[in-house]
Amino acid sequence: MGSIDNGNSSSSSSSRPSSLDVAIIGGGIAGVTLALGLLSRGIIPTIYERGRSFAEIGAGIGFTQNAEWAMKVLDPRIHAAFKRVTVQNGTDWFNWVDGEKEADEDGRVAMIHSMYLGERGFEGCSRAEFLDELVKSVPQGTVKFSKNLAAVVDSDGDDGSKMELEFTDGTKAFADVVIGCDGIRSRVRQIVVGDANKAAHHPHYSHKYAFRGLIPMETALPVLGKEKTETRHMYLGPDGLALTFPVAGGKLLNVVAFVTDPKQWPYVEKFTAPAKKSDAVRAFEGFNSTVRSIIDMLPDELNKWAVFDTYDHPLPTFIKGRIALSGDAAHAAAPYHGAGAGMAVEDGAVLAHLLSEVNADHDASQDPRRRVVLLKKALETYNAIRLERAQWLVQTSREVGHIYQWQDPRVGSDHAKVAEEIDWRCRKIWHYDIENMMAESKEHFRKQLEGM
Ligand SMILES: Cc1cc2nc3c(=O)[nH]c(=O)nc-3n(C[C@H](O)[C@H](O)[C@H](O)COP(=O)(O)OP(=O)(O)OC[C@H]3O[C@@H](n4cnc5c(N)ncnc54)[C@H](O)[C@@H]3O)c2cc1C
Ligand SMILES: *[C@@H]1O[C@H](CO)[C@@H](O)[C@H](O)[C@H]1NC(C)=O
Ligand SMILES: *[C@@H]1O[C@H](CO)[C@@H](O)[C@H](O)[C@H]1NC(C)=O
Repeated sequence: MGSIDNGNSSSSSSSRPSSLDVAIIGGGIAGVTLALGLLSRGIIPTIYERGRSFAEIGAGIGFTQNAEWAMKVLDPRIHAAFKRVTVQNGTDWFNWVDGEKEADEDGRVAMIHSMYLGERGFEGCSRAEFLDELVKSVPQGTVKFSKNLAAVVDSDGDDGSKMELEFTDGTKAFADVVIGCDGIRSRVRQIVVGDANKAAHHPHYSHKYAFRGLIPMETALPVLGKEKTETRHMYLGPDGLALTFPVAGGKLLNVVAFVTDPKQWPYVEKFTAPAKKSDAVRAFEGFNSTVRSIIDMLPDELNKWAVFDTYDHPLPTFIKGRIALSGDAAHAAAPYHGAGAGMAVEDGAVLAHLLSEVNADHDASQDPRRRVVLLKKALETYNAIRLERAQWLVQTSREVGHIYQWQDPRVGSDHAKVAEEIDWRCRKIWHYDIENMMAESKEHFRKQLEGM
């Protein structure tokens, strides 16, 4: 029973022999939020994290309405943690504008589309602060650091036995169910789809990267004015896209300027690299003087961030037996919709609910074989509920990246067509009915158990 990975006492699980042993691989947003959701449902999971500590990068992250709703369902503490660290401000609107043309004589903004973000807006925070805040609610001992998963020995479990996890340091652990939250370069993904599947191998460079930098608001405001600095703006144009929004309580203007790159990304293990402003200036030469002035205000030394995703080889499934994938391990999307981590929280809401149903099954707590059968059915339900929406996010994120850079031949720079494409895609993400997703999960699982 329980984890035997490194000789630490595992009194929590051995004193509750009937509780499910859930192994979460990876302590990013997907892994930690799932752990909280399980804890609040009476299940004590173990997170195995390869790093020596939690190490989310300092960059910002935003969450849309669906994600906030999913946080509340997964565990209200997640939502409360998010609210404690949100810093974004600015208005509740999102403007998509033509960044190529000069404004007309009336000086009118070449608005392509504008959407109301809802009461809750599109609030952002620092990733590192959010993770720190979440981790405060995770009891010590739930997380095992420096555990790099190498393999899962999945005896099919017909005899009710647990799966054996092997780590690169030679230690082992056991679990009833393994959830791979190990990110874009997932090891669990390889185990789930098999090494021969192209989806098993590394995600692919989408041939776009972003220059990222911050402009002090006292510099930006006189040049851009109130509207353009307060409201989230996306400047669309030929082979480029510049996103601006206020951060740090309005003290800084965050600039994320995406460009298309025909070359290969030269850095093997890294998604970020130093960059020069002069390269950004060249990339945005085709944009109007407002966008060029935004680039000009950036500091000389910038970062660039490559966009990788799982678009080229979508996974045929998120599960195998008693192993499932969640978050970027299952579906890494390009960042244009700002919805990847929100999707991980949606995954977690479904997983936590289904695992708690299995945990609550009295007969399964007495009979390990029944437990294995129920777990497999729970994961089948998870896959049925989540696969299509999460895969679609990967697809629409790539597609909208082309549309934003006027590279979709059916849409081009036609404002009406661009607006239509943006509108339905954003609505489908933001207005997703989380309660309905949960009800469907329950119903699907109930049907699976009929006749058992
Ligand atoms: C530029 C950019 C901007 C973005 N903006 C947004 C946004 O505004 N809103 C939004 O919702 N999403 C956004 N995203 C997407 C979001 O960042 C990701 O979807 C999310 O962080 C994924 O979380 P995760 O927990 O699945 O993976 P990760 O954060 O990658 O965590 C994986 C963890 O697993 C660990 N690990 C890996 N392999 C192993 C192993 N073998 N054994 C043990 N541990 C292992 C890693 O050390 C890591 O801690 C953005 C992404 C990018 C690139
Ligand atoms: C450049 O484009 C933006 C967005 O459409 C617009 O608001 C701005 O006025 C344009 N700049 C000039 C100088 O016309
Ligand atoms: C952000 O806006 C909200 C209202 O939308 C306000 O209550 C809050 O104080 C603002 N925060 C900052 C840091 O400006």
